[in-house]
Amino acid sequence: MRHIISVRDLRRDEIDRLLDRAAEIEARHFDPHLLSGRILGLFFFEPSTRTRMSFESAMARLGGVSLNMGSVEASSVAKGETLADTIRVVSGYVDAIVLRHPKEGAARLAAEFASVPVINAGDGAGQHPSQTLLDLYTIRKSMPLDGLRVGLLGDLRYGRTTHSLAIALSLYGAEIAAIAPKGLELPSGIIHELNGSGTPVTEHTAVEEVIDDLDVLYVTRIQRERFPDTASYLDVASSYRITPDLVLRARPHLIVLHPLPRLDEIDPGVDALPNAKYFEQAHHGVSVRMAMLSEVMT
Ligand code: NCD
Repeated sequence: MRHIISVRDLRRDEIDRLLDRAAEIEARHFDPHLLSGRILGLFFFEPSTRTRMSFESAMARLGGVSLNMGSVEASSVAKGETLADTIRVVSGYVDAIVLRHPKEGAARLAAEFASVPVINAGDGAGQHPSQTLLDLYTIRKSMPLDGLRVGLLGDLRYGRTTHSLAIALSLYGAEIAAIAPKGLELPSGIIHELNGSGTPVTEHTAVEEVIDDLDVLYVTRIQRERFPDTASYLDVASSYRITPDLVLRARPHLIVLHPLPRLDEIDPGVDALPNAKYFEQAHHGVSVRMAMLSEVMT
């Protein structure tokens, strides 16, 4: 049985193999009955559009079906059931579990109580490995993954997609520019981990300082739901915005990624530039998650 909880659980060769598999799937080389008769359980304790629907789509395209817990309010969680008990019970209903939860560490805990594979679809400010795989997949379609200069911009404190991506990029000899408003910097533990694996990290408060040197700019929204109060969110809201002018002065091959949803951090005028890859990135979620489901369910 195989769980996918953190990118730290994956070796570089395993990531490359999953990305290769996703490329074959995108080229329509897959068995549409591979997961026929199998059931995927979707447990989302936080909002989701892309992650939930692309896992559902991935499962359907492989011939399987999905069962969705539905909203927290409509489930027994509202009666006070613990995550451990929910997971123990639903392990008998489904063949794999996709879990999103506001608490960091929830997916790791679920894996302890599950008798089927668990895929972490985001645990608080922790990890989001399926997003990272589709981020890497999108980058790899534009340029080789080795030795890139990647700017991570936005809420690097609470943004789990940046935490996962930074750790995965360290397997590919990346240099990371961490660009964040004051108070939302990349956690020092992650910086130490990156440095320890030989990944240089520079810290910045303005994207203008580094954009000229980047191959990839990964933009994220401020994770309002993780802020203690509205006032502290308003202090940093709308503090950065990528505009067409800014992208046009960067290196021509720069690609701009965003896990989405976007608020106002990327001007819609950027969408039409060839550098903007965030909608393609979201579409790759299906092929990449098909590769992941094939991996853990067969
Ligand atoms: C991200 C998440 O849930 O962490 N969304 C996603 O899965 N694409 C990013 C975000 O919510 O900002």
